[in-house]
Amino acid sequence: MVLTRRAFMRLAGGAALALGLGACSTTNPLNTQSTANGNDERLLRSAAPLPALFSQPLVIPPVIKPVRTDQDTDYYAITAKVAQATILPGMQTTIWGYNGIFPGPTFEARRGRKVVVHTRNELPAPIVTHLHGGHTPPESDGYPTDLLLPAAGWQAPSHAPGANHHQPMQGGQITQTERDYVYPHDQRAAMLWYHDHRMDFTAPQVWRGLAGLHIVRDDEEAALPLPRDERELPLLITDRAFAADGSMPYPSSDPTGMQMGVDSTYHNGVLGDVILVNGVPWPFVEVSAARYRLRIVNASNARRYDLQLDPPPPEGSPFTQIGSDGGLLAAPQELKRVYMTPAERFDLIVDFGRYPVGTNVVLTNRLGDGNTTQIMQFRVVRQAKDESAIPATLAQVERLDPAQAVRTRTFDFNQAQVDGQAVYRVNDRLFDQQFIAADPALGDTEIWTLRSTTHHPIHLHLVNFQVLARAGGLEPEDAGWKDTVRLTPRNDVQIITRFTGYRGKYVFHCHNLEHEDMAMMANFTVR
Ligand code: C2O
Ligand code: CU
Repeated sequence: MVLTRRAFMRLAGGAALALGLGACSTTNPLNTQSTANGNDERLLRSAAPLPALFSQPLVIPPVIKPVRTDQDTDYYAITAKVAQATILPGMQTTIWGYNGIFPGPTFEARRGRKVVVHTRNELPAPIVTHLHGGHTPPESDGYPTDLLLPAAGWQAPSHAPGANHHQPMQGGQITQTERDYVYPHDQRAAMLWYHDHRMDFTAPQVWRGLAGLHIVRDDEEAALPLPRDERELPLLITDRAFAADGSMPYPSSDPTGMQMGVDSTYHNGVLGDVILVNGVPWPFVEVSAARYRLRIVNASNARRYDLQLDPPPPEGSPFTQIGSDGGLLAAPQELKRVYMTPAERFDLIVDFGRYPVGTNVVLTNRLGDGNTTQIMQFRVVRQAKDESAIPATLAQVERLDPAQAVRTRTFDFNQAQVDGQAVYRVNDRLFDQQFIAADPALGDTEIWTLRSTTHHPIHLHLVNFQVLARAGGLEPEDAGWKDTVRLTPRNDVQIITRFTGYRGKYVFHCHNLEHEDMAMMANFTVR
């Protein structure tokens, strides 16, 4: 059913306002078109006036300060709430933000030092926070039904079976208004990120702004002469689209946003036509002619990027990769381009000292169309001393040995048609909270074969893994410790991991957030 805007306002305006969405949560307030760029999802087109490319200065999200610290723990307080943000010049956008900003504040953590995040939910909907890449006990991992209910109260809506083809899932550890998430950080230095993980609603809630950075550091990394301070730039890349009034509507199948499900046009993933870096559309940043460390996360719902530099440096490769999802590589590797699926992180050194002062260097995306081929611009504005270096050995990285694997499992990530609708499943099953798809013992090493006929970024909670093999050969982006791996059509991937740290139930799933909300997720239990 297609509602006119007026009919929609009559029918559902109250509920939409109550959700903090403003009046623009209609099913299709934006024009849509499919894209021809290798992302076969659907594009939302903005109706709002957009800024010129590279006219807005890059912003670095503020680092959050602990409310108190003791010998081994830093305590933080954070509130998820509705807020107004200026994303497009001269316009206000309603967002859902941790502490009211998008991205949320950045956490600076230390390996072995515990972090406790006291989280308060002032949003009009339940939330669940997952620290992506965290080696976290199950009760703080953000299991999708461990809801943190809103301060203002919550009446679960009576659900229709839903466009996602599964029954709404309930029955996790529910808390009201406030709770603590506890992160022991018994893990390597790495750039993690935190985001919403509410069952069936992750995609719209992340789209509205619930994502931020969480950097873990350690002495091994701090001892290296890598670029640091203002020459270390965290870059959280997302795509969004804006309605004429500046709002950032998500194409839910239910205009009130109360029922789960994306409009079926977008079942393969929602793409926007505006690229935001740290929440700024196509920003620019002035840099010195020196090495910079770019710590990039693809925090987009569904968009894949193939990053390049334009112009490439006169000599040498554009990127030197020093780290991946799980921290530093053993040794740097030179890359011409970086292909990123959602949730992956790449830790890259770019030497702007190779360019003459006055050069503008654009980070481009070969998988885009029109303006989504452009990400951001670096303006080389001054000469500078550069004492940084890229050591030939970065870190000790244990290579997991396939001979130690005690078992092998195979998971198929596939789309099927049920009653003429797309469904996304793992081994032919939609997510079922009770069904345990894998039950490694604590300390077991296992090899998992992941298979698919389409594109899916596959993420495991709790553990990092290594990519052992890929049909057609390993890709450079498979290097190092990973927590998310790209599956491409008919290109089986083998990963190896050791289940350490904590017993309990965790999820693994597709990180295309639309697929995730359509229940392309499964449990593993560490016993
Ligand atoms: Cu970044 Cu289970 O997700
Ligand atoms: Cu998927």
